[in-house]
Amino acid sequence: MTAVADLTPPRAFDVEAIRADFPLLAHPVHGKRLAYLDSGASAQKPLQVMDALRHAYEFEYANVHRGAYWLSEKATSNFEAARSAVAQFINAADDCEVIFTRGATEAINLVAQTYGRSMLREGDEIIISAAEHHSNIVPWQMLRDEKGLVLKVAPITDDGQLDMAAFEALLTERTKVVAMTHVSNVLGTVFPIAEVATKAHAVGAVLLVDGCQGVVHRAVDVQALGCDFYAFSGHKLYGPTGIGVLWGREELLDAMPPWMGGGDMISSVTFEKSEWAALPAKFEAGTPAIVQAIGLGAAIDYLQSLDLDAALAHEHALVAYATEQLADIPGLTLHGSVPGKSGIMSFSLAYAHPHDISTVLDRSGVAIRAGHHCCQPLMERCGVPSMARASFGLYTNRADIDQLVKALRTVHTLFA
Ligand code: ALA
Repeated sequence: MTAVADLTPPRAFDVEAIRADFPLLAHPVHGKRLAYLDSGASAQKPLQVMDALRHAYEFEYANVHRGAYWLSEKATSNFEAARSAVAQFINAADDCEVIFTRGATEAINLVAQTYGRSMLREGDEIIISAAEHHSNIVPWQMLRDEKGLVLKVAPITDDGQLDMAAFEALLTERTKVVAMTHVSNVLGTVFPIAEVATKAHAVGAVLLVDGCQGVVHRAVDVQALGCDFYAFSGHKLYGPTGIGVLWGREELLDAMPPWMGGGDMISSVTFEKSEWAALPAKFEAGTPAIVQAIGLGAAIDYLQSLDLDAALAHEHALVAYATEQLADIPGLTLHGSVPGKSGIMSFSLAYAHPHDISTVLDRSGVAIRAGHHCCQPLMERCGVPSMARASFGLYTNRADIDQLVKALRTVHTLFA
């Protein structure tokens, strides 16, 4: 059963009030105001999450699912309440569909190594897109090589959208898995997941969605999306590191064998054989990341206390503002320009390497990511070895963009 929705009205969205919840943002770097523009790699944490972590360790910590004493029962109910918070946040049909993992990477590997290994046969086909993160490429390559599968890549258009006609042309009766990102961590493009789900299901394939950026940048309803698996990490969603989520449809998770064996994932063990526990325990061998899960629950409670529609409108306004401002920097190419894109602005400068850009920006207090963004095939598609990337969080404001643009003018002065 999922928890009943909290009907408290959300706090009005005020970016400056939100910034006050994130103490790290107030700490200067190199003596300069910090403009943290690397939330796509990992988001900063609000006090509400840090307080929840401290409270859990200070007052309510013990192992879960194992102790017949108050502290363990309290820790267990807090841990399971975090699962309910996740289920409600993504509109899962039941809490048992939420599996806690170390992160999205582990969640995708879990599906490849259980669903993929048990359900796919030699010659079966997997389709991914050209915009995938390495974590949604490599697990499928490993499975392909182990089982003699075919891995196909659906191309993207020059502006960074899924080429739907080309994707459709790749689908056959041998397609068993489609694995695709919800929002590109490089281009910011929002992929048409509901449409992809319909087309994948028409040939009998299941759809796994890499929701690392999707769950951060939009409201996610896994049932409305129509996907079969949805994976994301806690640390990009203002929660701690070391915790992530695999959501899967109950009947699929039930039919899948477990991946890791150990304590908690069994109902009985003898030296001859073991029986598996029911969902979700079947996929959670060993002591889980107890306090990290509670921290993720606190991050979701924090998000749900906000007006998320207004937060999304703020993000779209910032994308428009940043697009306009960056257009004024000489020699700058923006990668990804699909309308409605999320707050992820990857760019190249004709006269400076992304690592040099990042170093100069850092001296001005601006933190961005530079490199291939764990998407080497996408870099090749875009014709560059690496890019610079500014990515936004709830707390990003116009001053951050202005500071970025000013620092880029310094890069121009130094390198052009
Ligand atoms: N996947 C993360 C990023 O895009 C780390 O930066």
